[in-house]
Amino acid sequence: MSKLFSPITLSAAEGTGLTLRNRAFVAPMCQYSADGEDGVATSWHLQHYGSFAAGGFSLVVVEATGVLPEGRISPRCLGIYDEPTEAAHARIVEMAHGLGAAAGLQIGHAGGKGSTYPTLPGFDAGTVPVSEGGWATFGPTDKAVFPGLADPIALDREGIERVIEGFADAARRADRAGYDVLQIHAAHGYLIHQFLSPLTNTRTDEYGGSEENRTRLLREVTAAVREAWPAHKPLGIRVSATDWDEAGWTVQATATIVRTLAEDHGITWVDVSSGGLVAGSKIPVGPGYQVPLALELTQALADLDVAVSAVGLVANPDQAETILVTGQAHAISIGRAALGNPHWASAAAVALRAATPDAHIQPQYWRAHWS
Ligand code: FNR
Repeated sequence: MSKLFSPITLSAAEGTGLTLRNRAFVAPMCQYSADGEDGVATSWHLQHYGSFAAGGFSLVVVEATGVLPEGRISPRCLGIYDEPTEAAHARIVEMAHGLGAAAGLQIGHAGGKGSTYPTLPGFDAGTVPVSEGGWATFGPTDKAVFPGLADPIALDREGIERVIEGFADAARRADRAGYDVLQIHAAHGYLIHQFLSPLTNTRTDEYGGSEENRTRLLREVTAAVREAWPAHKPLGIRVSATDWDEAGWTVQATATIVRTLAEDHGITWVDVSSGGLVAGSKIPVGPGYQVPLALELTQALADLDVAVSAVGLVANPDQAETILVTGQAHAISIGRAALGNPHWASAAAVALRAATPDAHIQPQYWRAHWS
């Protein structure tokens, strides 16, 4: 019996939560393919997310989606802040549901890493100027996050309120669009992570300085999202569990804040990534290199009802199975391996002898494996 292909329930603040058909999730991955520059999903997104749903994954997490226009990573990134963006998400959800997968949405604000060129072949790097469809960015301070990015505007109290309300409004829209799970993006050097880390948050007000102050924005965002997102639907978070820098954000601080968010605001799922804030940090990249971070959170949160998913260079079915069987995480998020093969989960189910003509394989495709 494969652990990867056993069901998992993501709990919710109220009710029975959401039971998923297996433990292979799709990691959120920006496609830089919105319609024009208005943040609206296109037919690309329908086929892209649909193919993962048809490919046996249990939970398809849609890419970083800006809660405000200026919260998008690039002018070609998705948003969820008005009727057209919301309606386009509803089509993605309908597609995923029709193919037997649950649909999750990652909502975020890019902060000082917003308004960048798409990370696609043929595009420049760095900040898109306002004259080319970019926008002024915002951050905890007015210092650029990376060399080559424009200096942001330091958020004042009113700006922080706009961010928090943006997250709450996005949660309401995601619910209306039919999403089953919401994931708050607190990772990879974007706005919330910029506030969490002492490397980028040198504010002297109640949002900077102590760990209590640096985590305040995340706690306020999560509280507002919790109010707006139905109690019967699971609420998750994606974290960078370390900056890979001695002076930066740590796995201990991550465990502390996730515990608080779970106890106070009903967070029931944490997806454990790392890095993204500091250019040039020395990251020991290799197969499963972030799994030890997932293990630390699995152990630190063992007394809570929080599912921990591991991510990062987990590309092999046996590797994924071993991580779960040895209790290092409860689920696996698959990124680039899913881009290479959108049917990765079905193929993994076959490899692990967990597939049957009516489980983890799209029935129309059963003859690929049994004749
Ligand atoms: C990403 N990643 C990412 N992460 C995130 O939290 N939100 C996002 O929108 C994106 N976008 C994105 C686009 C593309 C093209 C890639 C390749 C990656 C990171 C991704 O979710 C994952 O954490 C990493 O790719 C590591 O996992 P894999 O790819 O080694 O399985």
